[in-house]
Amino acid sequence: MSPFQITRTLPEDATEAALRSDVLRGLTTDPKTLPPKWFYDAHGSELFERITELPEYYPTRAEREILVDRAPEIAAASGARTLVELGSGSSDKTRHLLDALTDLRVYVPVDVSESALTLAGQALVAERPALEVHALIADFTASLALPETPGPRLVAFLGGTIGNLLPAERGAFLASVRALLRPGDALLLGTDLVKDEEVLVRAYDDAAGVTAAFNKNVLAVVNRELGADFDPGAFDHVALWDPRAEWIEMRLRARRTQTVKVPALDLAVDFAAGEELRTEISAKFREEGVRTELATAGLALTHWWTDRADRFALSLSTVR
Ligand code: AVJ
Repeated sequence: MSPFQITRTLPEDATEAALRSDVLRGLTTDPKTLPPKWFYDAHGSELFERITELPEYYPTRAEREILVDRAPEIAAASGARTLVELGSGSSDKTRHLLDALTDLRVYVPVDVSESALTLAGQALVAERPALEVHALIADFTASLALPETPGPRLVAFLGGTIGNLLPAERGAFLASVRALLRPGDALLLGTDLVKDEEVLVRAYDDAAGVTAAFNKNVLAVVNRELGADFDPGAFDHVALWDPRAEWIEMRLRARRTQTVKVPALDLAVDFAAGEELRTEISAKFREEGVRTELATAGLALTHWWTDRADRFALSLSTVR
């Protein structure tokens, strides 16, 4: 058997159908919203890679610091023979874990992007012929079926992407992760932490305007995929901190009154001048909150590691 396999759990047209239903729902409710997962076409993924290199965007560097420092502890605590990574993308930071997991046999990267999975998977098997890579094309917020692989399993969800989910969605997501785990398995979760508002807002509104371009890219995706006529120049990028919900919101604010046509949905959407479309929430966490949310899903937090500046945390939890 080849050390690289790829399995599609999403029908070819599922992505298109999901986009249509998300856009229809999001643009016909008040306030208007679009889910952040639609940022990530090829151009959006490239813009996100550039965001991770910005001086203002600290989460990627902070998480990498923890992985570099703690990979041996993570490996010892999990003893994993299978590593499942949800939203694996380029699998870049994962290399630190792969190097430290001495008993690892199988790596299961899960992502909606087939191109990212193939690129990262082929490179990995070339470097590590003993590792079996079983990539899954899947939406990790939907129910997941994992291949039969040796335990213990370590499921990793890095980057702080859990913060893109609303609290109720987080609960459902953690419960679905819990359902994948057997006694002895573990979840490694990356969470960005609550900190000074200025630092947070700057991370989502950088001086070079890369995050603004990333935010507006969702309009280009809707234009291309659904034939819409959004003018990205007619919207301003907005990033704000909601101190009650403890999350960053990204919005697109209409610069003037306008009507946007979405032919694939037979829809015309009116924007008032100044009206805002919410494109992302990025929740920030505290240790007690993470512990509680994990416990609610039936997971017990066993380790909490932060970077040296206490900006970001990786937690390890096990089945209770
Ligand atoms: C990839 C979801 C972790 O929320 O910080 C970066 C996405 N949005 N800048 C985040 C993002 C704006 C990022 N995650």
